[in-house]
Amino acid sequence: METLDIKGTFRWPSANVLSGRGFLCRLDAKALNYRHAFHAGNFADLVKHAALLELLARLGVSPGPLTVIDTHAGRGLYDLTGPEAQRSGEAEAGVGRLTAAADAPDVFDGLTQAVRALNPDGELRRYPGSPWLIARALRRGDRYLACELRADEHKALQAVLRAAPSAQALCADGFRTATERTPRDGRALVLIDPPFEHADDSRRTVETAAAVLDRNPAAHLMVWLPLKDLATFDAFLGDLEDAVAGKLLIAETRLRPLSDPMKMNGCALVFANAPADLAHPLEAICGWTARVCGETGEARVYER
Ligand SMILES: C[S@@+](CC[C@H](N)C(=O)[O-])C[C@H]1O[C@@H](n2cnc3c(N)ncnc32)[C@H](O)[C@@H]1O
Repeated sequence: METLDIKGTFRWPSANVLSGRGFLCRLDAKALNYRHAFHAGNFADLVKHAALLELLARLGVSPGPLTVIDTHAGRGLYDLTGPEAQRSGEAEAGVGRLTAAADAPDVFDGLTQAVRALNPDGELRRYPGSPWLIARALRRGDRYLACELRADEHKALQAVLRAAPSAQALCADGFRTATERTPRDGRALVLIDPPFEHADDSRRTVETAAAVLDRNPAAHLMVWLPLKDLATFDAFLGDLEDAVAGKLLIAETRLRPLSDPMKMNGCALVFANAPADLAHPLEAICGWTARVCGETGEARVYER
């Protein structure tokens, strides 16, 4: 098998090359340091995954095949007993609190059912990533493209998606894949969930959102972002507003005031072409998470 080995100065490889048959996905690990295993099941995953399931449930009731593109898929399934999760303790403070809670609102039911399915004896050992949740929600005729650039994560992703015939695990740049492969016609959902470890992740997110909506103005878009300080978030929203037409739906989960830009003080979801009734469940998801996982927790859901 031919091997593609990218070392030294990191350049974004072409989706075609990396996902082409006969190529082995192998990238210089230094180029991609981020490992979601440290963060899987944290407060931000609860918000993202509960919201994703609410969105998929709404898109699933309309007839016609849906294409889902997950630009940054990760490994698909996370071991909460592993050294990364144990070291960070983030899952315990996130999904640990959710599964122990007596007062979690119904909007978390889909996520808690998924967690229960993965942990049938009740002990919290595994947590689903977006690929696992999306693959489980696919209907006959739907398609799912999951992009992951890290070789080790991509290998695990392939294994998770092996049983889902309509899902493809691509070792490809997700920004480029969404830009080139969002269907021009028909129903599409693009989830953009970058690690924001590269200086250009924010700019590429805006460019990709614009390119996706240019190809298919009806495509549904869901973007995840860390909330650090207000100025950075506001600049991102301003750039996105300039780049895309139509209203954005924004859901913020603030754990604490957004005063220290060096800290992840919360997370935000930004939607384009959101179903009309998504705001209400988002309020419940962000509100509960901010209250239970936050210090001075606050949630805001609004249109811009
Ligand atoms: C935040 S994690 C994804 C989590 C996943 N969406 C979930 O909810 O379970 C981001 C992942 O994107 C991968 N990655 C980073 N840059 C990428 C790119 N340009 N294209 C595809 N994957 C990328 C990282 O290796 C990492 O596994």
